[in-house]
Amino acid sequence: MAIRTIRVMGDEILEKKCREIKEVTPRIQELIDDMFDTMYDANGVGLAAPQVGILKRVVVIDTDGTGYVLINPEIIETDGSQTGQEGCLSLPGKYGIVTRPNYVKVRAYDENMEPFELEGEGLLARAICHECEHLEGVMYVEHIEGELMDVETDIEE
Ligand code: NI
Repeated sequence: MAIRTIRVMGDEILEKKCREIKEVTPRIQELIDDMFDTMYDANGVGLAAPQVGILKRVVVIDTDGTGYVLINPEIIETDGSQTGQEGCLSLPGKYGIVTRPNYVKVRAYDENMEPFELEGEGLLARAICHECEHLEGVMYVEHIEGELMDVETDIEE
């Protein structure tokens, strides 16, 4: 396990489309493990492979204590809408208001390359949409309503 460097906006790798994964090799498994470590270390709720410099279609998400790995994810159903704050580990200290579906169903492959479907509402739905877009080279700032804002942080020493 290892924590990888998170690429920040401006790095052109975040603007590229990722390639499908055909097989979970030991190298891909290591990538997935490292992505979880990196996401948890940064207190994030989702991370996509291009954010650690790898142009492959895999994301990890944990919005509620359950870690999900989505390989080659494809959103197959959406419903409703939610408007709220969204941020990204590739744009630290910032957030914006983004409207997303309130419900999402995604089809993906797990670490054994078995297909499965995951349904999410609220924050999980938002995270699924956000992370899947990273695989297309899209950052959430393309959708923000109004200005990009600074997260107010309390500095305590
Ligand atoms: Ni992000």
